Amino acid sequence: MREFILYSRLGRTEPDWTNLHDAGRLDITHECIVAALFLSHGLRRNVTFHTILHGPPKPPRHIQIDGQILYDVRTDQQTWTNILKKTLSDKPHPGITTNKTSFEALVKIKAQQQPIYVLEEGGTDIGEVTIGQNPVFVLGDHVGLPKKAETFALRYGTKISLAKQPYLAATCITILNYVLDRKENP
Ligand SMILES: C[S@@+](CC[C@H](N)C(=O)[O-])C[C@H]1O[C@@H](n2cnc3c(N)ncnc32)[C@H](O)[C@@H]1O
Repeated sequence: MREFILYSRLGRTEPDWTNLHDAGRLDITHECIVAALFLSHGLRRNVTFHTILHGPPKPPRHIQIDGQILYDVRTDQQTWTNILKKTLSDKPHPGITTNKTSFEALVKIKAQQQPIYVLEEGGTDIGEVTIGQNPVFVLGDHVGLPKKAETFALRYGTKISLAKQPYLAATCITILNYVLDRKENP
């Protein structure tokens, strides 16, 4: 199992919007969902994706997408516009849950049984880190992780870097899936 937690600073917490970009950059959440959960012609059943939305009007809002249960999905923006609107309206979709769990509470819960890795350009190079079993990776959105959130997560985890260049959050997830795929199936 592997998990990703995307900290969304501005993602709107109600379905009162018309497109993902204007909904506090939920387009980044969509890109990360695709990178985390989709293979060509299939889903990654071993991945759970989380985002904590901190935008108005009612933050925080935790959305969890469980690749083991998820179905009836495609990769396109319209599919995820519909699903995210449905989720933010508290309507069910298989494999997707939402609640008021905060970023800090989620990290703390996960850290009880799983190793936490905080993604940041200035961290220890991933090549020098042994990734433990059932890892949880924490990422920021286009603005990056707020300092307070990063400091909190680092009480439980290790700061790791993929390269010195700042990548898109979704690119980081693709790289991590690739690295772990290669490690699990050499
Ligand atoms: C688009 S980046 C934001 C980069 C921006 N310089 C910042 O303030 O963090 C979004 C997230 O991807 C992760 N990230 C981007 N490049 C990375 C790298 N080279 N190594 C590790 N994590 C990275 C970080 O978690 C970052 O918060």
